[in-house]
Amino acid sequence: MAQVVTSHRGPVTGTATHKRKKRPFLLDLYSTAVGKKYVMGITGVAMMGFVLFHMIGNLKMYAGAAGLDHYAHFLQTLLYPLAPKGWVLWILRGGLISMLFLHLHAAWSLTRLNRHARPMKYQSKRDYQIANFASRTMRWTGIIVLAFLVWHLLDLTFGVVNSETGKMITHPGDEESVKAVYASIVYSFQRTPVAFFYVVANILLGIHLFHGAWSIFQSFGLNNPRFNSWTRAFATGFASIVVIGNVSFPIAVMAGIVG
Ligand code: HEM
Repeated sequence: MAQVVTSHRGPVTGTATHKRKKRPFLLDLYSTAVGKKYVMGITGVAMMGFVLFHMIGNLKMYAGAAGLDHYAHFLQTLLYPLAPKGWVLWILRGGLISMLFLHLHAAWSLTRLNRHARPMKYQSKRDYQIANFASRTMRWTGIIVLAFLVWHLLDLTFGVVNSETGKMITHPGDEESVKAVYASIVYSFQRTPVAFFYVVANILLGIHLFHGAWSIFQSFGLNNPRFNSWTRAFATGFASIVVIGNVSFPIAVMAGIVG
């Protein structure tokens, strides 16, 4: 009797077995590695802008308590009375949270995509000369900076680990009281382990920023070797400015320059 041969083979990869649903263009782009790299780049640039301006704003600390507290108050009442107090700040916060979420999601799904493309680890020793120290450490510097951010918010925004955060102060010449931000920073950095944690976390942030700033040019296809020295100078300059500024704050408090 003739035997019926049945094939259990699935369709060849890429065979159209059903009509694909059309997705919006941006979602379609995001499903590709290039799209995810764009998202990492754009959200990275936005957050680079934030850390730079955050550091510049915090330099007001050197102008004394009133200078910094008034600056924080200015941010909290941005566009007032055009917009109710605090609204613009919350919109900016919303943008920042979305950027952080997208950056993390793109990083996570790019890692998954890479693992999928190469499920086995390389068997031979890799030549890591091309991938420098900063690029190999992106994941863990990112995770530590994220942990720092959680502590930082509990410390200086929500005051869960800082009894001075949220207190109000009326500076000489003022009619209304403002949030005593300066006092809460000084209180925070007078705790030596906390100050050290800020220093270490900000150095790691610098390493992350250095490679991030450098990678943006690659993500957007602007890595022409002719401009390599420029891109390196930009990444080095940007990361150094942010780190030097940020690290100076805990050091200034520990040294008694600010207090
Ligand atoms: C030593 C360096 C830093 C100092 C002295 C500092 C200081 C502060 C202060 C005082 C606040 C609260 C402001 C307020 O309530 O009005 C704050 C909020 C915040 N900081 Fe920092 N910061 C530093 C570094 C950083 C870094 C490196 C990042 C990001 C990686 C960061 C991200 C944030 C965020 C996201 C907020 C919340 C902003 C908001 O809710 O309005 N900070 N920081």
